[in-house]
Amino acid sequence: MLKIGVFGVGHLGKFHLNNWKEISGVKIVGFYDPYDEIAKEVAEKYELKRFLDADKLIDACDAIDVIAPTNHHFALCEKAIRKGKHVFVEKPLAHTIEEGKLLVNMAKEANIKMQVGHVERFNPAYLAIKGIPINPMFIEVHRLAQFNPRGTEVSVILDLMIHDIDIILNMVKSDVKNIVANGVAVMTETADIANVRIEFNNGCVANLTSSRISMKKMRKMRLFQKDSYIGIDFLEKKTEITKLLHEPDKDAFSFDIETPQGTKTIAISKPVIPEVNAIKLELTSFVNSIVENKPTVVSEIDGFLAMEVAHQILEKISNTNILV
Ligand SMILES: NC(=O)c1ccc[n+]([C@@H]2O[C@H](COP(=O)([O-])OP(=O)(O)OC[C@H]3O[C@@H](n4cnc5c(N)ncnc54)[C@H](O)[C@@H]3O)[C@@H](O)[C@H]2O)c1
Repeated sequence: MLKIGVFGVGHLGKFHLNNWKEISGVKIVGFYDPYDEIAKEVAEKYELKRFLDADKLIDACDAIDVIAPTNHHFALCEKAIRKGKHVFVEKPLAHTIEEGKLLVNMAKEANIKMQVGHVERFNPAYLAIKGIPINPMFIEVHRLAQFNPRGTEVSVILDLMIHDIDIILNMVKSDVKNIVANGVAVMTETADIANVRIEFNNGCVANLTSSRISMKKMRKMRLFQKDSYIGIDFLEKKTEITKLLHEPDKDAFSFDIETPQGTKTIAISKPVIPEVNAIKLELTSFVNSIVENKPTVVSEIDGFLAMEVAHQILEKISNTNILV
């Protein structure tokens, strides 16, 4: 049995608890959360031991799960890594670049498994494109959410856009060449809505819009690449592929278009979406990495690279005039 300690049992922490309970080979030793009201409710509802001393919980575990606010990630992860424990930490990896770098180095030195909660990597709509050649030259992303005070201790870049940054860095195997960014602080003191253009050395351009002050929710990514267009709807969990057909495909709906270069056949297909719970899958994947001694799917280095781009964006935004 892998012994897990949970740090932070607020909104997302409770989802983690529900999922941990369903993962075989795992035992939740207890939780640590300084907020008495939440701790009391969780201890009763989940029949779990509340630890009042973070060190004691770490000592009693093989691995910890950190779902505390971002500004507490570093201190909790550091304690656990120094004790040689494996760490799952929610995104973003840490609050500052310096903290992120230290965690990456400490995890390597301690030779522990570390995974960052970029859960969209396990979204069924994204999993559906596994096996399809991905080489986008233009990416358009919209991640819009209604206002919620939770998460506003960081800007919309570190709260929401970082999910898309991680996915894009995972797909575009090229270095970032240039970033153009602008953001507006409306409800909080940091950017609540932002538009960013990331140019890569291989010529790919990603245009991202993130908002936490929208009337409607949306989480869409559109990939344009030679001969095909892939639309991924992370919210509705749907994926659609439109491509130029060079040979018949009985599974796709197709139609012809006359062009000066001759008849082109366009096919539209919807890949099978796996029926999975992304949070359960990411936590199970973390457990498997420990048990089978294999790399985590979203490593601390991935978490750091996403943070690094997010902080470059923040710097660009701070150089422009934020209209409060
Ligand atoms: N992957 C995702 O899609 C996703 C979604 C939401 C939140 N998050 C991340 O999860 C984390 C928590 O977000 P949330 O929405 O659950 O916040 P929340 O405010 O609902 O819960 C945070 C909990 O952590 C507790 N806490 C505060 N300091 C602590 C400490 N030192 N040790 C242990 N617990 C502590 C608080 O009392 C609270 O109960 C954040 O890092 C956030 O970025 C990720």
